[in-house]
Amino acid sequence: MNEKQFEVFLEIHKDIPREGPGDSDITKSTFKLCTDLPEKPEILDVGCGPGFQTFDLAEVSDGNITALDYHEQYIKVLEKNVSSADMQNRIKCVRGDMNKMEFPPESFDLMWSEGAVYIMGFDEGLKEWRKFLKPGGYLCVTELSWIKENPPAEVADYWNENYPGMMKVAEGNNIALKRGYEIVENIVLPDSAWFDNYYNYIEVKLPEMKAKYQSSDDLLKVIENEEIEIDMRRKYGEYYGYVFYVLRRIDQ
Ligand SMILES: C[S@@+](CC[C@H](N)C(=O)[O-])C[C@H]1O[C@@H](n2cnc3c(N)ncnc32)[C@H](O)[C@@H]1O
Repeated sequence: MNEKQFEVFLEIHKDIPREGPGDSDITKSTFKLCTDLPEKPEILDVGCGPGFQTFDLAEVSDGNITALDYHEQYIKVLEKNVSSADMQNRIKCVRGDMNKMEFPPESFDLMWSEGAVYIMGFDEGLKEWRKFLKPGGYLCVTELSWIKENPPAEVADYWNENYPGMMKVAEGNNIALKRGYEIVENIVLPDSAWFDNYYNYIEVKLPEMKAKYQSSDDLLKVIENEEIEIDMRRKYGEYYGYVFYVLRRIDQ
């Protein structure tokens, strides 16, 4: 994506509740799988976007949450919402790059990342982030994964081109074991998690955006890519999903 195309991407993604598939109930029930956390856990939400799941975590825990995202557009929304909810004492908003986080080692009881570890790569993220967890701390990430064998060629080709690193759940678990975690649980997000707070909001914007950028094939491509992604989900959603990998740091 060139710079202008990325601006159009950000325009499509402006002022929508989430920046990726997710579900409040699943966020909260997944948190409850993280047993033995201290009363006020230190939590890091990596790639928090506008912070939908950040507020879910604040509701379900008594923890202190550091919410980190690279893009100003999202951090500004989060800051405004944190301030309106008078939650500055619970949620700290940080503009930063997940590739270059400089927290002291073993700072967090729980690291959370919905739909964002792919930016570093699942393997790399698990490897690099482990040091920020206290021993026995949890890492909960959602990652796009194949959930059914033999996907039809159309969807296999689509994801091979757009996300060549996409793994089966068992492959994700093997990486986690290799990187020093135990597997607590895998949870596949329901189809509603893709549409209710994400695709539905994007889809209604697309006709207007198409009209606005009709003179540029380059920019129209960004909009059409969103349409194709949503279409793939409608047609082939049974073959892939966002999967919560609930992991716990183990030290031998
Ligand atoms: C798919 S969105 C998920 C956002 C949010 N967790 C949610 O579920 O709504 C990925 C997020 O990662 C952020 N991001 C992209 N590159 C990043 C980086 N290098 N460091 C930190 N955040 C990054 C994006 O701005 C975006 O908010």
